[in-house]
Amino acid sequence: MKANDIKVFISSVLPNIGIELLRKEQFNVITWDNVTPIPPDILIENAKQCNALLCTLTAKIDAHFLDECRHLEIISQFGVGYDNINVAEATRLGIPVTNTPGVLTDATADVAFGLMIAASRKMFFMHKKIERNEWKYFTPTSNLGIELKNKTLGVFGLGRIGIEMAKRCKGAFNMNIIYHNRRPDRDAEKLLEAKYVSFDELLGQSDVLSVHSVSSEATRGIFNKSAFEKMKPTAIFINTARGALHNEEDLIQALNEGRIWGAGLDVTNPEPMHANNPLLKMENVAVLPHIGSATMEARNGMSRLAAENIIEFYKNSRIPHLVNPGAMEK
Ligand code: DGY
Repeated sequence: MKANDIKVFISSVLPNIGIELLRKEQFNVITWDNVTPIPPDILIENAKQCNALLCTLTAKIDAHFLDECRHLEIISQFGVGYDNINVAEATRLGIPVTNTPGVLTDATADVAFGLMIAASRKMFFMHKKIERNEWKYFTPTSNLGIELKNKTLGVFGLGRIGIEMAKRCKGAFNMNIIYHNRRPDRDAEKLLEAKYVSFDELLGQSDVLSVHSVSSEATRGIFNKSAFEKMKPTAIFINTARGALHNEEDLIQALNEGRIWGAGLDVTNPEPMHANNPLLKMENVAVLPHIGSATMEARNGMSRLAAENIIEFYKNSRIPHLVNPGAMEK
C-alpha cells in the first residue's frame, strides 16, 4: 500500500510536528480540530474511515470502540500512559498499540518535585491568602511548613519518571530513597542508593510518598483508607501518575483527620476535579490540572514519537514503542 492510500485519523489537536511528519511521508491525515474531547460516536465514525488512529487519553478506546473499529491496523497513543485503551482487547484483535515513553520523563518528574515543595510549604494556599488580602503581618508561629532535607522519599513505581524524581530529591535534599515495584531494580538501587521495601514498609517509612506507577488492575485504588492509615502523620502524598491509583474520598478523610500531613496531585480521581472539591481549600495541598507533560519540549517529543510509531510501522515494518507485542503474533 502506498502511504497516500493510508488514512490516519488524529483525534485531538496536537503539536504540529507529528502531523507534519506524517504529511511529509505522504500519509493521508485527517484531524479533529476542536480542542474539546471528541465525542465517542464521532470518534468511531472517523476511525471507521481510517487505517490508523493517533489518539490521546481523552479518547475512550474501550471494547465497544474496538468492536466497531476492529479493522484498525495500529493505535498510536500520544502519551506514556494508555489506561484509556483496552489493551487486552486490542491484543486479542491483533491491533498493535503504541505509546511515547522517555520524552516526558523530566517534565513529569519536575512537576512531582514541584508539588512536593509546594505542599510541604503550603505554597498554593499562601498565594490564595494574599489574593484574599489576608497577608496582614509577619507572625513567627503561623504559615509553618515542614523541611525535606534528609527525609525519606518513598517511590511507588521506580521506572523512568520515579528515578528522575528520586534523583532530584537526592540531589536537592539528600533524601534517603526507598521504593516498591513489582520486582527490585538493582541498577536503579545502585544509582540512587535506593532500598527495595514491601508496600507496607513503603507506607510506614516514607516522609514523602510519590506515585509513579501505571494504573492497572493491581494498582487501581491501592492508596485507600487502609493505606493512608499506615502512613506517618507527617507524610506528604504525591501523585503525578494516574488519579485512579488513589481513592479521593479516602485521601480527603486522611488529610482532614491528620492521618497524613499533605498532598500534591497532578492527577485526580475523577478528572477534571470539580472546583468545589475540598482538597482545593486545604492548606497543605497543591493540585494541578494534569500538566505533568505540559512543556513545549515534551509535547513536541510526544507528537513526534506518536507519528514515528505509525510511520515506522507502515514504512519499515517495525514499531519503536509497542506496548502489546502479543498483537503481532495474531
Ligand atoms: C501521559 O503521557 O501518560 C501523560 O499523563 C499525559 O498524557
